[in-house]
Amino acid sequence: MFDFITDEHEMIQQAARDFAQNEIAPIAEHHDHTGEFPLNTVRKMGQLGFMGIEVPEEYGGAGMDTLAYALALTEICKVDASHGTVMSVNNSLYCHGLLLFGTEEQKQKYVVPIATGEKIGAYSLTEPMSGSDAGTMVSRAVLNEAGTHYVINGTKSWVTSAPFADIIVLFTMTQPEKKHKGVTAFIIETDKPGFARGKTEPKLGIRASATSEIIFENYECPVENRLGAEGEGFKIAMTVLDAGRIGIASQALGIAEAALEASIAYAKEREAFGQKIGQFQMIQQKLADMKCRVDASRLLIYQACLAKMAGKKTGGRYSMEASMAKLFASETAMWVTTQAIQIHGGMGYSKEMPLERYFRDAKITEIYEGTSEIQRMVIARSLTGLR
Ligand code: CAA
Repeated sequence: MFDFITDEHEMIQQAARDFAQNEIAPIAEHHDHTGEFPLNTVRKMGQLGFMGIEVPEEYGGAGMDTLAYALALTEICKVDASHGTVMSVNNSLYCHGLLLFGTEEQKQKYVVPIATGEKIGAYSLTEPMSGSDAGTMVSRAVLNEAGTHYVINGTKSWVTSAPFADIIVLFTMTQPEKKHKGVTAFIIETDKPGFARGKTEPKLGIRASATSEIIFENYECPVENRLGAEGEGFKIAMTVLDAGRIGIASQALGIAEAALEASIAYAKEREAFGQKIGQFQMIQQKLADMKCRVDASRLLIYQACLAKMAGKKTGGRYSMEASMAKLFASETAMWVTTQAIQIHGGMGYSKEMPLERYFRDAKITEIYEGTSEIQRMVIARSLTGLR
């Protein structure tokens, strides 16, 4: 139907679907219940190339494009959004940024082990008092007198995968008086002195993904681990988030698709008042609206992927397309999972079915990597050019 979806895209989509069904489906409920991080399956996803789909083969990745990434991620999230969260951060927030802004040495040293899934990557922008207003961070990096190291101090919060991350792309202030122009990015090795993990967040959803604070106390980061130039950090963070938002949109789509499919099956099977509930117009209306929103999300994701892929050639931005996809897909996931529970009635509310997990997992897609309010701000600013 879409000629930009090639045989190669369908192959990775099928591979992700098979992996999710065979390896993730049997453990998803257990990991959601216990909150245990699924390290084994995450490693296997790396071996299959899912942790660095767009990373060129020379850096340990699968050498594919953004559409391949979105298709594969959707399939993983259709079974378990927690696995998808780890995959998404590795691919778009970590590898993408290093590929765009890293030196050759940085790519060899810090992309290869993450793209192969041997190690886990993370991205750290948020602070306890700096979320949507990302330019207001107070953590600091100060260059030492010899000019060899930056000394980093401060606390970052809500860092996805941080409890297990080997390497983290950190955004912190080098020149606070310059506000967002004073932000610089660094590559942090988490096994060095001065780095500590704070409390792990007890979360409503994506419970098998691990999220924590990270704390820097006189952490010495060698200058060669600065990513990009001093003061370039905010732009790096925003550029990387544009790619990340396509990932979260794909995650939301996977959750919504799973909820829709379960609802169709239930509507065909469950009977009330002497007929299948799918014969009632009120259920039909829900299913029809769910399907329209799911497919509209998919089309916005394709649009964002194509814009990103075209932008690669022109150096252009695709912020608006990425934000539109994320906004619509995440609100769809929340709405569709709500309807799915309603269609299932008491069964939908029970932990014996995955519907309530889909509902809890959907909520984060409206929050992380930019809330829905921030996505609307990005879209409106792109339309008007006004700040
Ligand atoms: N690409 C490149 N550059 C960009 C950009 C983009 N997408 N967006 C903004 N910029 C540039 C602007 O051009 C501007 O550059 P100049 O100073 O040279 O003109 C500069 O960045 C500042 O831009 P703004 O004035 O627009 O900045 P702002 O302070 O008004 O903020 C914002 C804009 C869109 C609200 C931004 O702060 C934002 O996206 N906030 C949300 C942050 C977010 O998504 N946080 C989630 C963190 S990750 C996470 O969720 C956890 C996890 O582990 C997954």
